[in-house]
Amino acid sequence: MPFLEATNLHKTYRLGRSNKVYALRGVDMSIESGEMVAIMGPSGCGKSTLMHILGLLHGPDQDQDAPATLSINGNDVTGMSDKERTKMRASSMGFVFQSFNLVPTLTAAENVALPAVYSGRKRSEAREAATEALEWVGLSEWADHRPMELSGGQQQRVAIARAQVTKPDLLLADEPTGNLDSASTTELLDLLQRFNQEQGQTIVIVTHDAVVGDACGRVLSMLDGEIVGTPAA
Ligand SMILES: Nc1ncnc2c1ncn2[C@@H]1O[C@H](COP(=O)(O)OP(=O)(O)OP(=O)(O)O)[C@@H](O)[C@H]1O
Ligand SMILES: [Mg+2]
Repeated sequence: MPFLEATNLHKTYRLGRSNKVYALRGVDMSIESGEMVAIMGPSGCGKSTLMHILGLLHGPDQDQDAPATLSINGNDVTGMSDKERTKMRASSMGFVFQSFNLVPTLTAAENVALPAVYSGRKRSEAREAATEALEWVGLSEWADHRPMELSGGQQQRVAIARAQVTKPDLLLADEPTGNLDSASTTELLDLLQRFNQEQGQTIVIVTHDAVVGDACGRVLSMLDGEIVGTPAA
């Protein structure tokens, strides 16, 4: 059984009364446990929309005639309650974004600890896990600094540490290198490959960067709301 399997994902955004945007038009995809996969395609083809659905932030359209299915790590997530989805996000998924999304008033260590706190760990345990995660990304010395004191590359490594602090099975990254120079991009890819290879973490990365695509084991191409021309895992 694949780690992640989606069939017939549709997502329609309504704009005003009569306008609709068909962001996803029947996505089918399958990812094995421990794969590192890139999703590539032109702007507006639905990559972020797909990531939001895989990350359980939005549900796909509900169509009784042709239902969507989404299973992740053996869980049928389309049938889950909001509460179950939130719990699954907190306990087994990590997220990385293009714009780092660190809390500016918190230190690096406090930022990294947040998901561990949300997933219900004691503060002392969360702090310990954050220290360890900052070590993984080589930023122990920056633990007490705030994001504005760090370079873009360092901020993204803090964001990676934050995504990894709960040791999630699945890491979802949307354009994680979009704001990085090539040296920081290489560093970030090295880090992600380590998590993938040493811990068997399944990683899905949306990217426009061919260098990132090349670092992944497989590239899924997206066009006009569909995954095109790729065999299943
Ligand atoms: N909240 C929203 N409301 C209405 N339309 C939306 C919304 N989010 C996305 N869209 C539309 O859905 C389509 C897919 O958007 P999406 O953000 O998934 O594309 P993308 O592939 O991530 O693009 P990019 O590479 O520019 O980030 C676009 O036409 C976009 O305008
Ligand atoms: Mg996007």
